[in-house]
Amino acid sequence: MGKQGPMRIHIDGDTYFLAMTGAGVSAESGIPTFRGEGGLWENHSFEKLASPEGFESDPALVWRFYSHRRRVARECRPNAGHHALAALERRLGERFLLVTQNVDGLHRDAGSERLVELHGNLFTSRCADCARAPFEDRAVFGNGAPRCEECGGRLRPHIVWFGERLNAEHFEQIEAFLGRARRGRLVFLAAGTSGVVFPAAGLVDVARQFGAETWLVNVDPPENAHRFEHFVQGRSGEELPRLL
Ligand code: OAD
Repeated sequence: MGKQGPMRIHIDGDTYFLAMTGAGVSAESGIPTFRGEGGLWENHSFEKLASPEGFESDPALVWRFYSHRRRVARECRPNAGHHALAALERRLGERFLLVTQNVDGLHRDAGSERLVELHGNLFTSRCADCARAPFEDRAVFGNGAPRCEECGGRLRPHIVWFGERLNAEHFEQIEAFLGRARRGRLVFLAAGTSGVVFPAAGLVDVARQFGAETWLVNVDPPENAHRFEHFVQGRSGEELPRLL
């Protein structure tokens, strides 16, 4: 288990900062986490809804679930944790990268630009059947599933589901950043994530191989807390502004 760290992370002109966020960072904005209360939706397990198999067997149900999530996220605003990370990016520029597992778009709303949305984006759809590029889509559906206007095929949320591969370009972006960080001192910070979904949960190990000082901010100790040097227990909306 990591120890309770000092209350501020040392960041100077030599620091490269890699951040990784999960659902906990958006909790204070009003978006339910996956593995806390509300891990089930209408009695369906999240793993079943967010999977290619779930979509095959009942696309209308999957769209009802993602419509619900779009409705919730549309009403939410970034919180102080999102803003603290955006402010740090403004300060560090190219020496900053934010990798998020969240699909809610709140980091971008807060002003984050050097952002890797590892699991996709809730307000983007794509055609499951043709090569049309993913497109912005804020629509919600009560019954049935939408069809592609170009080929008549099935539209789906542009989300990385269970059993699907992450975007290879995202790994390249992260690796390139870690390569550049060799010039300075690397800090890795994870916040609001239960550390059970890989490969995101393994990023701390990669960062350590690159010599990173590692920090974790979470309301309770998650699965992979022992992999971090510093563990700060608390809500990200309170702790991130203080730490950064
Ligand atoms: P989880 O729901 O698994 O974990 C959220 C973590 O945040 C838990 O450890 C909570 O204790 C913590 N937490 C809750 N409120 C917090 C707060 N205010 N401040 C700090 N921490 C808080 O969410 P993720 O780890 O993001 O994948 O889940 C990973 C992936 O699993 C998701 O991206 C999603 C899901 O399946 C896909 O959609 C592909």
